Amino acid sequence: MKSALARLLTSGLGLVLLVACSKPASGPSAAPSAPAKITIGFLVKQPEEPWFQLEWKFADQARQELGFEVMKIGVPDGDKVLSAIDNLAANGAQGFVICTPDTKLGPAIVKLAAERHLRLIAVDDRFLGSDGRPMTEVHYLGISARKIGESVGAALSAEMQARHWPAEETAVCAVTFEELDTAKERTDGAIAALTAAGFRAAAIYRAPQKTSDIPGALDAAAILLTQHPEVKHWLICGMNDNAVLGAVRATEGRAFPAANVIGIGINGTDCIAEFEKAAPTGFFASVLLSAKQHGHDTAAMLFNWIRTGQEPPLDTRTVGVIINRANFQQTLREQGVR
Ligand code: GLA
Repeated sequence: MKSALARLLTSGLGLVLLVACSKPASGPSAAPSAPAKITIGFLVKQPEEPWFQLEWKFADQARQELGFEVMKIGVPDGDKVLSAIDNLAANGAQGFVICTPDTKLGPAIVKLAAERHLRLIAVDDRFLGSDGRPMTEVHYLGISARKIGESVGAALSAEMQARHWPAEETAVCAVTFEELDTAKERTDGAIAALTAAGFRAAAIYRAPQKTSDIPGALDAAAILLTQHPEVKHWLICGMNDNAVLGAVRATEGRAFPAANVIGIGINGTDCIAEFEKAAPTGFFASVLLSAKQHGHDTAAMLFNWIRTGQEPPLDTRTVGVIINRANFQQTLREQGVR
């Protein structure tokens, strides 16, 4: 991350090259003749997360349907991203789909892809430019993060009311990861919906996670629980299932009964084992996202772009459906996850 990458990110020359090189790759005239064999990369930031394993599974499905090669590469940091892109070029690939480990790498990734004549689609996490704004010129497929977050907040509020929890004994633990736009939009949306439903703002607490995984969320939530021993009932939201799972584990660590906790995640793919546990836990529900669209459709769009020059839409947003213990098996089957 430090060396080559830092130089790329800070070099003014890099930006000039970026502008100069990215044009031909996105114009309709970009693919005069289709290559005989098409190979694409599918690079993900957290290959250990079930969500990303499912994206890979669905990218494989597109590979089988359409007939191309996919190189699936885990890229947990910036150096891995750069070496993966070089590796793709060395293997004759024509493009890649990427969920970057750091959205600020956007300009460096775009520059290197252009130099290596690789087309790219960003999935899940949108690139940020050097001005800190989303790189709207880079093709992107991600979730409707704000709306999905709002649906989490509304569902938390409805379940709290169904359980008749007294407002004065109830608080919200929002596990946040605000350095990532899609994560911030989700938790902001959940908090906005809770507030709109009448939840008192003074009892909504943000617990920033240092790392976007279960241990990071557990640590963040544990601190919050220690700070608020007066709270008897917790509502939990976060950027994804792992954020909420970490916070639920923290409530268990402090001996909260499962019935006093309502956690609602996002992804619907990383909580399956949780729903399969014999006894219900505080993890109550999740918004199941469309891993198929994120994995299969991005791979297929990239393949068509390379093969026919047909440019994908610049910005595609996907939606989700709420799943819980009662309906998860059927919904996962319907969505082809199981
Ligand atoms: C981010 C999160 C993933 C998943 C995707 C969905 O990348 O880290 O867990 O929620 O968004 O787009």
